Amino acid sequence: MPHISILSSSVRTGRHSHRVSLYFKKYVEENKLATNEYQFPVFNERLKFQPSPSAQVMEFATKIKSSDGVIIVTPEYNGGYPASLKNVVDLLYEEWHRKPIAISTVSDGSFGGTQVITSLQFTLWKIRAWTVPAMFPVPKVAEAFDENGNAIDKVRTDKRAATFVNELLWCIEATKRMSNT
Ligand SMILES: Cc1cc2nc3c(=O)[nH]c(=O)nc-3n(C[C@H](O)[C@H](O)[C@H](O)COP(=O)(O)O)c2cc1C
Repeated sequence: MPHISILSSSVRTGRHSHRVSLYFKKYVEENKLATNEYQFPVFNERLKFQPSPSAQVMEFATKIKSSDGVIIVTPEYNGGYPASLKNVVDLLYEEWHRKPIAISTVSDGSFGGTQVITSLQFTLWKIRAWTVPAMFPVPKVAEAFDENGNAIDKVRTDKRAATFVNELLWCIEATKRMSNT
């Protein structure tokens, strides 16, 4: 069974995109894909240069490294992704290498945060992660999910999520097969 981690990028008070992270948590649990979720710390230096990293940082690094794949849920802030997400991408290095990553973008407007994709993909490419060619944009997030991550239209949302997560699973399988050769 693959192990998928979910990164909830927003640390904003009253954040709405977290609803989508909670939805994915439920989704992968319902579909028997193990999961964990994490809110990352702010760092002063990259992990590999920290003389005595905190237990929280080490736990985060271990979780990313041991995950077979990652779902990043990110809001759009002024056309880009939040500083909190860049912070955690830059914190690690080889932990990201060849890590299959699926990106879900979120906004409270009509466009689902899709302007984030190119800049985030470039950063992840630069750090040698594998971004999965699938999208899960969420427009009008507060109308689409409740506070507990329940989709208002569960059937339609689950169908979209299946396409999105299946693409991630394909990449996870491909990575595993290559690692075994
Ligand atoms: C600093 C900031 C900048 C934003 N910029 C955009 C934007 O460029 N495009 C957009 O569609 N929504 C933008 N929004 C609205 C967010 O999409 C909306 O607030 C969303 O709920 C943010 O996710 P969060 O609640 O998890 O922080 C912005 C929100 C904030 C707080």
